[in-house]
Amino acid sequence: MLIFVIELNDYMSKQRYSITAALPYTNGPIHIGHLAGVYVPADIYARYLRMKGEDVFFVCGSDEHGVAISIRAKKEGKTPKEIIDHYHNMIQSSFDDFGISFDHYGRTSDPIHHQTASDFFKALYDKGDFIEETTEQLYDQEAEQFLADRFVVGTCPHCGHEEAYGDQCESCGRSLNPTDLIYPTSTISGSVPITKATKHWFLPLDRYQSFLEDWILKGHADDWKSNVYGQVKSWLDDGLKPRAVTRDLDWGIPVPVPGGENKVLYVWFDAPIGYISATKDWAQQNNTDWEPYWKDKNTKLIHFIGKDNIVFHCIIFPSMLKAEGSYVLPTNVPANEFLNLEGQKLSTSKNWAVWLHEFLEDFPGKQDVLRYVLTANAPENKDNDFTWRDFQARNDNELVAIYGNFINRIVVLTHKYYEGVVPAPNHNTQVDEETIEELRSLPIQIATAVENYRFREASQILLKIARLGNKYLADEEPWKQQKTNPERVKTIMYNGLQIAAVLAIASTPFLPQTANKLKTILGLSLQSNWSDMTQSELVAVGTVLAPSELLFSKVEDDDIQIQLDKLKNQSI
Ligand code: MF3
Ligand code: ZN
Repeated sequence: MLIFVIELNDYMSKQRYSITAALPYTNGPIHIGHLAGVYVPADIYARYLRMKGEDVFFVCGSDEHGVAISIRAKKEGKTPKEIIDHYHNMIQSSFDDFGISFDHYGRTSDPIHHQTASDFFKALYDKGDFIEETTEQLYDQEAEQFLADRFVVGTCPHCGHEEAYGDQCESCGRSLNPTDLIYPTSTISGSVPITKATKHWFLPLDRYQSFLEDWILKGHADDWKSNVYGQVKSWLDDGLKPRAVTRDLDWGIPVPVPGGENKVLYVWFDAPIGYISATKDWAQQNNTDWEPYWKDKNTKLIHFIGKDNIVFHCIIFPSMLKAEGSYVLPTNVPANEFLNLEGQKLSTSKNWAVWLHEFLEDFPGKQDVLRYVLTANAPENKDNDFTWRDFQARNDNELVAIYGNFINRIVVLTHKYYEGVVPAPNHNTQVDEETIEELRSLPIQIATAVENYRFREASQILLKIARLGNKYLADEEPWKQQKTNPERVKTIMYNGLQIAAVLAIASTPFLPQTANKLKTILGLSLQSNWSDMTQSELVAVGTVLAPSELLFSKVEDDDIQIQLDKLKNQSI
């Protein structure tokens, strides 16, 4: 009967989530900025919701079209296909290494994506949702090529940034048409482009202006992050204009309508559809249905992105989805700001970055440390700086000195006093009761922070669990009482081990590797639920602990110096 009630309850209350993380361009490896801005928060969120028992589909994949890829191919003297294969594999292994728990990782070069994006374009075309127009566009006479997107840079007419791309200014975030740029220059030849007539299909964003105003400005003033809401509001206040969604390029998805020969879809038209095609791909492989994840109105669609992607995920993609008509719109778009590195903007092209594969070579086994540092210092509401000194300080002063120290003390003492067997407690004192009460409140606070996309705060509450354990042991001093009052020590140790167990379970979304190590030490199941933490006994009396294992170790000054020197050689 009880089982029946739980199952029914579970069935009725399960919320379906489609969680997307921005598809990285396969024009280079990924670095700490990507991890901090998008993938770590998305992963924490997905892991937390899975532990709550929700129906979660967490999706990502490689963004393999667009000028970014063509430029890299040219630079390396390779074909675009060689470039995307190389970086796709590299990026996917970095995600694996850092425990980013995608349910599916797709590719926009896959046939299923070409078909899905092509059909999507065709559906809008058939409904008359595009404007077909011949206009004067920028053309590079030397390279004999039209210039769009990253093939052209110039001054942003809105904010004056001098290196704005043909489709977007990364400084103010606005989307642009190449002809909006002041002093445009070709990035292929360096020459000043002329203009030449060419036909394209435009998405008339102005027609979606009032829908976007109602949906976002009126509907999400309270629950969307202020950095996201503020940007969207300023663009809507400017007034939206039609945007070309096709390009005169040879790398991309062919335009599937009459007159589309030698043209491809704009990369930002096809890439977000990649979330959908990856879902289809996953559903096919798992013999399930993809449509509820995109079309059931109860599904919560959450886009994790960096701030340069806001315009695409809050304005352009929702307008496409609205035009098509059968899809849900995002419930939230918790975009982060940017992470800088030692005071300078991270840059793939300038090689100013900490690459994930290199980090792992230099700090083997420390992926959870990086996850933690990037979360504790996440650029949630403003740009933030990653420094190697801060990395070292957080590792040494927080993970080693607080988290690791607590676990080490409680586990080592259990082995010393009881040969690793969890003792039976006696009655609790008032201090014990107060400690337990505080312990119960911390996972609830973490949950609230995570559900509101405040991952920095959540990581600091997590650390409070270890602080609580340390304080409890320091105040109760079991090592002083073991001779005189061993019965009292049993209670202290028993309670301390329950704190360790809550720490293990609550760590799972944040520090998955460490959580598993700690659960193994404590004899806990690796498959824990978030609600397990409401139980009063997580580590049962009589459980035999595994031998103590160091969860964290110090980062040496020399290791930090090596990283700083590496950057010094890079700087330009
Ligand atoms: N590749 C893009 C970038 O790195 C992100 C694409 S997100 C998607 O900025 F929605 F288009 F998939
Ligand atoms: Zn600008």
